[in-house]
Amino acid sequence: MVSSTYYYDHIAGNYNGHMTDSDNSVRKEVIKIFKANIPGGNILDFGGGTGLDLPGLLSDQYKVFFLEPSTNMRAIAIESVSEKPRKPVIIEERVNFQQWSDNHLPFTEKMNGVLANFAVLNCIPDVDSLFEKLAIICAPLCYIQATVIDVRPLKMIKTHSLKVAAKILFNRQLITRNYFNGIAQDTYLHTLQKYKSASGKYFNLVSYNSIHSSNFALLILSRNEIAYKKTTL
Ligand SMILES: C[S@@+](CC[C@H](N)C(=O)[O-])C[C@H]1O[C@@H](n2cnc3c(N)ncnc32)[C@H](O)[C@@H]1O
Repeated sequence: MVSSTYYYDHIAGNYNGHMTDSDNSVRKEVIKIFKANIPGGNILDFGGGTGLDLPGLLSDQYKVFFLEPSTNMRAIAIESVSEKPRKPVIIEERVNFQQWSDNHLPFTEKMNGVLANFAVLNCIPDVDSLFEKLAIICAPLCYIQATVIDVRPLKMIKTHSLKVAAKILFNRQLITRNYFNGIAQDTYLHTLQKYKSASGKYFNLVSYNSIHSSNFALLILSRNEIAYKKTTL
């Protein structure tokens, strides 16, 4: 088993080629909802991968910050916008959210929206710490929009097995292992309850809905204004 960054460094060159038509329509739908929820301001493409969402995000509407810990994935993203008139702010330092604190952040701006598209949160074992750190960089009422692996039992029975679905039902954290060219990466199947308890101190749950014709659910949270005031006093 290797770290997520090592895994994505290894598969970077093949990543875009694995996108299916269904993935492309999920991406379109997710960006449409993101734009409808976040009218403008600073947005963060968190775990932005090879930059597949950048064409949909780069517009007069937003200042886009792009954070991707795998240097090989990031290099493809940088190349993809090299000829474009609009460019994101590429974060190359302080990419490890676990080290973030008020005095140690990758940027000084506060975000109005954070996109974590295509199972970024499923690469992260400790989502408690993730939401604590994201709270630092989010402006009041900032939206976090994440496509996460839908682990509701009915979905799990269809996509995994009865055994996996039963474990999820009993609210145990489940880890599955993905293999690519002999390299394995762990995927963390967090439940909605887990996202709620991990984020609840800083964020309100806006919605959690299945994304049509996919194994994803769309998790939407908004930065809690009262908690924002308390944590920034
Ligand atoms: C399935 S890819 C999704 C990439 C991109 N968001 C997309 O929609 O195509 C998951 C991404 O999450 C990134 N990732 C994994 N752990 C991360 C972390 N701790 N912080 C930020 N990104 C992370 C990986 O490097 C990888 O690029």
